[in-house]
Amino acid sequence: MATHYKELGLVNTKEMFKKAVDGRFAIPAYNFNNMEQLQAIVMACAESDSPFILQVSSGARKYANQTLLRYMAQGAAEMLKELNPHLKFALHLDHGDTLELCKSCIETGFSSVMIDGSHHSYEENIKLTKQVVEYAHKFDVTVEGELGVLAGIEDEVVAEKSSYTRPEEVEDFVKRTGVDSLAISIGTSHGATKFKPDQCTKNKDGILVPPPLKFEILEEIERRIPGFPIVLHGSSSVVPKYVEMINSNGGALKDAVGIPEEQLRKAAASAVCKINIDSDGRLAMTGAIRKMFKEKPSEFDPRKYLGPARDELKAMIIEKNKNVLGSAGKGALIFKK
Ligand code: G3H
Ligand code: 13P
Ligand code: ZN
Repeated sequence: MATHYKELGLVNTKEMFKKAVDGRFAIPAYNFNNMEQLQAIVMACAESDSPFILQVSSGARKYANQTLLRYMAQGAAEMLKELNPHLKFALHLDHGDTLELCKSCIETGFSSVMIDGSHHSYEENIKLTKQVVEYAHKFDVTVEGELGVLAGIEDEVVAEKSSYTRPEEVEDFVKRTGVDSLAISIGTSHGATKFKPDQCTKNKDGILVPPPLKFEILEEIERRIPGFPIVLHGSSSVVPKYVEMINSNGGALKDAVGIPEEQLRKAAASAVCKINIDSDGRLAMTGAIRKMFKEKPSEFDPRKYLGPARDELKAMIIEKNKNVLGSAGKGALIFKK
């Protein structure tokens, strides 16, 4: 039987994006695949009073089982009521690739979907995105489209090279598709090795410094579609302390480099109102688990290593909400009427 997201106490992204664009901050979108990630996201956002988007990729749906995942999200909404009664979140499909997948998510309580037609031709992207928008809007579900290609892995789609968003296309795309937000490509990419060493310079401590994001493209996009909600994917910073935690406890992450926090702060203060973070959460949990395994090799109760991993992820999310996205404390602004 179909479930509408409002029955689950969820919200779509409309109001939060409006407040984020006006207030010059960004809503964090965190991916989850399991219970500990979900607990960490909910607890951290409740504690920092941050509006948030819970993201589910099609890989996550396959991993956790789509029925279980939908009830986990419903459970998260109930848990959130106890932790922070005025706060609400959106349940979002990350990198949807077909109309059927989007429909299936909408029927099971998602309040927002992404249709990623960025790997198609421009006209095919418009056609597919428009079909999803027409369906989703009947249920008051918001839709994110994408123009431009990010390098790295987007679910099952791997792009060797990025191609930046062409500002001259955005107005036409937004108008013809009716999307509610637009993901753009300005130099971010997915995963923990976002740049090759030869793309980076080295600072005085020998740390790799990636090339800056293409803020001139973002500015031109803002000029053409003022106030329209813009989304940044591939926005993990690949937090050096977690890379170090992993490598000093038996891991082997080479040339791991992400988007510097300073650049994300600058983006969050612009029309960018949603910032996607998945890899940093994976790194935080892996670092904590590796550390635990090294320090206590006789431990075999999963709660003893997944618990610290959850704590580390929670601490990371609070830090991001407060010091990078600027979303901490904004729950009351958006939801307390
Ligand atoms: O953009 C991709 C997200 O990080 C989701 O990754 O497809 O491995 O779940 P995934
Ligand atoms: P990261 O790999 O940089 O965390 O990006 C996640 C993302 O864009 C999910 O859609
Ligand atoms: Zn993404």
